[in-house]
Amino acid sequence: MPDDIPPRDDHAARGFSTRLTHAGRPSVRSHGFVNPPVHRGSTVLVPSCQDRLDNWGKRNERVMTYGTAGSPTQWALEDVVAEIEGGAHCTVVETGLAAVTAPLMACLRAGERCLMPDSVYGPARALADGLLAGWGIETTYYDPTISAAQLEALWTPNTRVLYLESPGSHTFEMQDVPALCAVARRHGAVSMIDNTWGIRHFQPFAHGCDVSIQALTKYVGGHSDILLGSITTADRELHLKIRNASLAMGHYASPDDAWLALRGARTMAVRMAQQEGAAMEVARWLQARPEILRVMHPALPQDPGHAIWKRDFTGACSLFGVVFQPDYTQEQVFRFVDNLKLFGIGASWGGFESLALPTNATLTRRVTGPLPGQAVRIHIGLEDVPDLLADLEQGLGRLAG
Ligand SMILES: Cc1ncc(COP(=O)(O)O)c(C=O)c1O
Repeated sequence: MPDDIPPRDDHAARGFSTRLTHAGRPSVRSHGFVNPPVHRGSTVLVPSCQDRLDNWGKRNERVMTYGTAGSPTQWALEDVVAEIEGGAHCTVVETGLAAVTAPLMACLRAGERCLMPDSVYGPARALADGLLAGWGIETTYYDPTISAAQLEALWTPNTRVLYLESPGSHTFEMQDVPALCAVARRHGAVSMIDNTWGIRHFQPFAHGCDVSIQALTKYVGGHSDILLGSITTADRELHLKIRNASLAMGHYASPDDAWLALRGARTMAVRMAQQEGAAMEVARWLQARPEILRVMHPALPQDPGHAIWKRDFTGACSLFGVVFQPDYTQEQVFRFVDNLKLFGIGASWGGFESLALPTNATLTRRVTGPLPGQAVRIHIGLEDVPDLLADLEQGLGRLAG
């Protein structure tokens, strides 16, 4: 079988698109075909009872023992994600949410404490305030724009996890990730970042994070038709701790979805480049509109997080928010969104189609206070920008009635 693709070590110096094209392929024996097959299955047959005994307990070593341990299809995707995030080990799971919950459950025990940004993805807060609190794990929410000194002041000896998400869900605050993760490291705690927004443009491990969480559902899937998540680490011991917990809880990524995500990953760089440029155009256009108080997009120079974004990121994705002038009511903003023709009203993002979603009613922020006006989250897809602008213009025309 031809195995002419250079080993992973050779890839590190190469560009993102090159690595995205070649990662995860040498490990898969696919009889010369470019893509791995879908290995579906629960039972894995072995030649003898002794083989079964020898393989027992080896499900973390990519020995096929049972379907839940994965197969070359999921492992190829894990290699792609680890490579593009600059990590070494990855576990794929069935949803982005499972990728949020599994490492938190793996790394926290009763009596311990977690620090979470106030702008965290809502279901992560629901886990912390529900199950984790019930198990005696305390969570303190912090202002996402906190400095290292302020974080230090919040620290207690039982704080074992620092959770981050930059930019934050819906409100897009940027975090000083290297400075905050350095505090966690000094205290021997684990730092975990939801890096879904930064998948193409932020290297979590180079910025001091221990765990990177991805909702592969978004740009890796890219077509709004799968759910999948990943948990990546640079450290093998931490990886095994999370992988064992994840297996213990029955987390599992379907091989069909892993195969679709691999297919999506190969074209992610071109889709994202197109979407990033289009989103910048739309964001700038909206920023100039009199109806809009502020666009929440860290790549805009006016954004309060711009300096951090410029320092740490190589680009942006196509998800941002707008805050309307304070005198617009929820009813008016709903009318704007309801009348858009090209923007679907729906959750998730990273697909090929544009979306718009009013966010005030579902915001979970408590520490940082309410936004000054009605907010809408916007995802820009692959449509032509003039068409999107014309649609937004006619939608804004409906604000008045
Ligand atoms: C920032 C972020 N993290 C995690 C998730 C969870 O992903 P999934 O929908 O695959 O569970 C989402 C989903 O919207 C998200 O926006």
